[in-house]
Amino acid sequence: MKKYDFILKGFIDNAFDLKSHLMDFLSIEQDALDGFLENAKMDLANLHPGITLGEARDFYKEIVGDKHLADLAAWHISSKDYIVDTLKLQQRFSKNLVLDFGGGIGTHALANAMSPKVEHVFFVDINQTNRNFVEFRADKLGLRNKLTFCETIKETKISRFDTIVCLDVLEHLSDPAFQLDAFHKIMGPQSFGLFNWYFYKGENNEYPFHIDDKEIIEKFFKTLQSKFIEVFHPILITTRTYKKIK
Ligand SMILES: C[S@@+](CC[C@H](N)C(=O)[O-])C[C@H]1O[C@@H](n2cnc3c(N)ncnc32)[C@H](O)[C@@H]1O
Repeated sequence: MKKYDFILKGFIDNAFDLKSHLMDFLSIEQDALDGFLENAKMDLANLHPGITLGEARDFYKEIVGDKHLADLAAWHISSKDYIVDTLKLQQRFSKNLVLDFGGGIGTHALANAMSPKVEHVFFVDINQTNRNFVEFRADKLGLRNKLTFCETIKETKISRFDTIVCLDVLEHLSDPAFQLDAFHKIMGPQSFGLFNWYFYKGENNEYPFHIDDKEIIEKFFKTLQSKFIEVFHPILITTRTYKKIK
């Protein structure tokens, strides 16, 4: 077994005990959990009133409740191969102080915390249920001392991160270019950013909470292309690795 394969195996086996964590955290039995996971995607989409700028923050902070746990859990369980590839990517680049921005149910933050190359992980998520759930999971997995939980980057009080992970989050923000700028300011010349985005609402509006405004997207790409340079990796996924240019 290669040095970090135990982390991938832990995810492939049972997504780091995800189902048992959900049952304990939500105090529900197996049958109820299965229903919760099955209806997850449309439950979340139906909660959303259709996006207008400024609402995105409120949606994740106030409206989703534990629906987002179900949505993310169902996705991580059903798209295991994709998630494993993102974990492989992390393993290539993650080191020292890691920021996981919009960390969701914690798969990437927990995997990073398991890595001996990582000193500490700062899990930042606007949604308190997510923060509480991942803190609960970190406790169960014996990783609590390697993670800190915050609502904003400012709260971490860290001015320089060695790795920034921001997966499937940028399309949820009203100004993703502003977020890239914020990442740029807290990266050093040797830091890596692992970013992806999906500025699309879906064929059947499955993702009403994603932004798809042309001007916002163009501003995003201008910022990306002026402030970051891509670092090649051979994994066939949409997530890209970046260093800052200046
Ligand atoms: C689609 S999920 C992605 C979760 C995780 N990164 C993954 O790959 O599974 C988006 C996450 O971003 C969080 N989020 C949305 N807006 C945010 C903001 N302004 N600041 C921090 N987190 C935010 C949501 O609460 C949610 O957990």
